[in-house]
Amino acid sequence: MPLVTSTEMFKKAYEGGYAIGAFNVNNMEIIQGITEACMEERSPVILQVSAGARKYANPTYLRKLVEAAVIETDIPICLHLDHGDSFDICKSCIDGGFTSVMIDGSHLPYDENVALTKKVCEYAHDNGVVVEGELGVLAGVEDDVKAEHHSYTDPEQVQDFVTKTGVDSLAIAIGTSHGAYKFTKGTKPQLRFDILEEVEKRLPNFPIVLHGSSSVPQEFVKMINEYGGNMPDAIGVPEEMLRKAAQMAVCKINIDSDIRLAMTGVIRKYLAENPADFDPRKYLGPARTAVKEMVRHKLIHVLGCTNKI
Ligand code: G3H
Ligand code: 13P
Ligand code: ZN
Repeated sequence: MPLVTSTEMFKKAYEGGYAIGAFNVNNMEIIQGITEACMEERSPVILQVSAGARKYANPTYLRKLVEAAVIETDIPICLHLDHGDSFDICKSCIDGGFTSVMIDGSHLPYDENVALTKKVCEYAHDNGVVVEGELGVLAGVEDDVKAEHHSYTDPEQVQDFVTKTGVDSLAIAIGTSHGAYKFTKGTKPQLRFDILEEVEKRLPNFPIVLHGSSSVPQEFVKMINEYGGNMPDAIGVPEEMLRKAAQMAVCKINIDSDIRLAMTGVIRKYLAENPADFDPRKYLGPARTAVKEMVRHKLIHVLGCTNKI
């Protein structure tokens, strides 16, 4: 099956009260871990590539690794640009065979966000590619941009934004954030489900996206801390909140940090326990398995996305 857009995935997810996992990919082991779990659980998947991933792995390598996953699996795979910040990077991905792009104009004044998103939509749609836009700013670090506080999405703007731009899905800010430090330790994590409800009312049957949705599994944090790391305050979004969002209008849930934590925990443990080993396959293999099992857990318990093919 060739790469697909997310249109059909989102339609079924919206109707079925589940969400599609959008996992960030940077290398072969990550792509294999994710797609093997999705193949075994019969789950469609979005593999997303950031500007940083393109710089790290080189766009051609990433594209070819995803093509290999398409050949090796029989599941619907959508290849998505994560946090595109300019028309040029979106165009480059569209021309390079991506089936979906995000244009993230969320840091721009509203009218500039509308104009940029509209321009990307026109080019993308002419080429059969779908577009995710964003309204509202998440706290946390994204590439080189750091926001100290959330600017929650204003539900009053969403209808106007979607109508004027023609976007196919919309990322909103309801209190999630990028990275492994999402809430203050000792306080109760809160998400603004009231905003999600208001957005849902104003945009019926329209797919909503949640960024910053890693749950930061404490088993990996503990492993990192036990084997020489130092991340005692890492806290993620509780799984039950993501499950609730997936049953609402949220059709795409973005996960990157949990992949990083799983790999880092397992690699630290392996190297600490096997100090004389120097074969990368010995630690990258278990890291790939950890990604696979973590993704399987998400598909079953968070996204509700198993047996959907
Ligand atoms: O939202 C951002 C993703 O976690 C990608 O991170 O820019 O370090 O690849 P990156
Ligand atoms: P996390 O940092 O919570 O994994 O979020 C990833 C993300 O939103 C990618 O766009
Ligand atoms: Zn993001």
